[in-house]
Amino acid sequence: MFFPFCYCILPIQSMNPYEKKRRWKFFLLIFAILIGIASVFYTDSFVKKMEREEANQIQLWVKIQERSMFLMDNDNFTEIVESVRKNTKAPVVVVDSSGHITTYFGLDSTKTNYSTDNKLTYDSLYFVHQLSKMKAQHMPLEMNILGTSYKAYYKDSFILTQLRYFPYIQMIVIFLFLLTAYAAFSSSRRAEQDHVWVGLAKETAHQLGTPISSLMAWTELMKSKFDAEDDPLIAEMENDIKRLEIITDRFSKIGSKPILEDHTVYIVISNFIDYFKVRTSDKVKFSITGDDQVRAMLNIPLFDWVIENLLKNAANAIENEGSIAINIIENLAKEQVFIDVTDSGKGIPRSKFDAVFQPGYTTRKRGWGLGLSLTKRIVENYHSGEIFVKDSELGKGTTFRIILKSSLTYEPTTA
Ligand SMILES: Nc1ncnc2c1ncn2[C@@H]1O[C@H](COP(=O)(O)OP(=O)(O)O)[C@@H](O)[C@H]1O
Ligand SMILES: [Mg+2]
Repeated sequence: MFFPFCYCILPIQSMNPYEKKRRWKFFLLIFAILIGIASVFYTDSFVKKMEREEANQIQLWVKIQERSMFLMDNDNFTEIVESVRKNTKAPVVVVDSSGHITTYFGLDSTKTNYSTDNKLTYDSLYFVHQLSKMKAQHMPLEMNILGTSYKAYYKDSFILTQLRYFPYIQMIVIFLFLLTAYAAFSSSRRAEQDHVWVGLAKETAHQLGTPISSLMAWTELMKSKFDAEDDPLIAEMENDIKRLEIITDRFSKIGSKPILEDHTVYIVISNFIDYFKVRTSDKVKFSITGDDQVRAMLNIPLFDWVIENLLKNAANAIENEGSIAINIIENLAKEQVFIDVTDSGKGIPRSKFDAVFQPGYTTRKRGWGLGLSLTKRIVENYHSGEIFVKDSELGKGTTFRIILKSSLTYEPTTA
C-alpha cells in the first residue's frame, strides 16, 4: 500500500508486479491488524489495573470515613482523610438508606446550591443521571457510620474512561492516516503514469512520422521509376504504410486531447469488424447484433483501437474454434449505449476481473499486458465511458461491456 517503488510502469514480463503488490498489501494489512490487536490488549490490561486501583482507593476512603467519626478532632487524621479523598480519582456519591444524597465528590460542584436556610440542595436531574451511570458501572460499597448505613456509588474516573476508548480512537486515527497516505500515493502514481503514457505516445507518433512520410515518397518514386502503377506488391506496401499511418495517428491522439464526433456505433463497429475479420483465423466467427441506430460521440482512430484490443484478446482466448459476438444495446432511460463483446474463449477467473485492466497484467507468453489498460484509458479518459468484465465463465467465455453516453443529438427514426 505504501510502496510506490512497486509500481513499475513497464514491468518485465516474467514477473507480475500486481501479484507482488497484492502480497505486500496483504502483509501490511495483517501487520496493521496485529498492531491494532496488540494495542487493544495492552491498553486493556492497563485499564483493568487502573480499575482495580480506583476501586481500592474508594474502599480505602470508605474505611477511613467509617473510622473518622471516632478520630474527628485529630488534625492529622483529618489531613489524611482529605488527602485520601483528593487521591481518589473516581467520582463518588454517598446515599443514605432513604435515598438522600449525603455527600459527593469528583462531580460538577456547580450542580449544588445552598438554599436560604443554608441547606445544600442538589440539581436532581444531574445527580439522578450520574447515579444511574454509576449503578451501570459498579456495585455500590456499603458504608456504616455510627450504626447508620450508607451506600457509596462511584464511576470510572475521566482518565480511565478516556483510556478505555483510547485504542479505538487510535485505530480510527491510524486508519484515516493510512487512507489519506494511500490516496496521496495513488494519485501521484496515477499522475506519473499519465505522464509516461502521454509522453511515450507523443514521442512514438513523432518518431514514426518522418520514416512514414519517406516511405510514402519512396513508393511514389518506385511507381514512376519502374512504371508499376498497378503492381500488386506496391499496392500491398501502400496498405502497410496506411496501417502504419493509422497506428501513428492513434499514438498522436493519445498524446493530445482527441476530437469526438457523432457516429452510429453499429456502423463504426461493423466497419472495423470487416477490416479485422480478414486478418483473423477462419475458425473465429464474428457477428454483430442489436441497435443499429444509436449514436455516440466517438474518436474513430481511438475507438477502433478499443475494439481491436477487445477482438484481439477475444481471438487469443479462443483456442480452436469459437465465436465473437458484439451486441449493441441502447439504454434510453439513462441515455447510454452498452456495447457487449462476448467470446467463447477460455474465460477469466472472477478474482481477476479488475486485474486484467492493470498495466503489466498478462497470462500470455508474448503479452505485455498493456492492451486492456490502454483500452480502459481510451474509454474512460477520452470518451467519458466505462469498461468492465460483465461476465465470464472458465472454459465457456467472457463478456466485456463498454458503456458510453449516447449522443444527445440522436433522434429515433420514425420510418
Ligand atoms: N476475452 C478474454 N478472455 C480471456 N482472458 C482475457 C480476455 N481478455 C483479456 N484477458 C486476460 O487479460 C490479460 C490482459 O490482456 P491485455 O491487457 O490485452 O494484455 P495482453 O493481451 O498483452 O496479455 C490477458 O493476458 C488475458 O489473461
Ligand atoms: Mg491484449
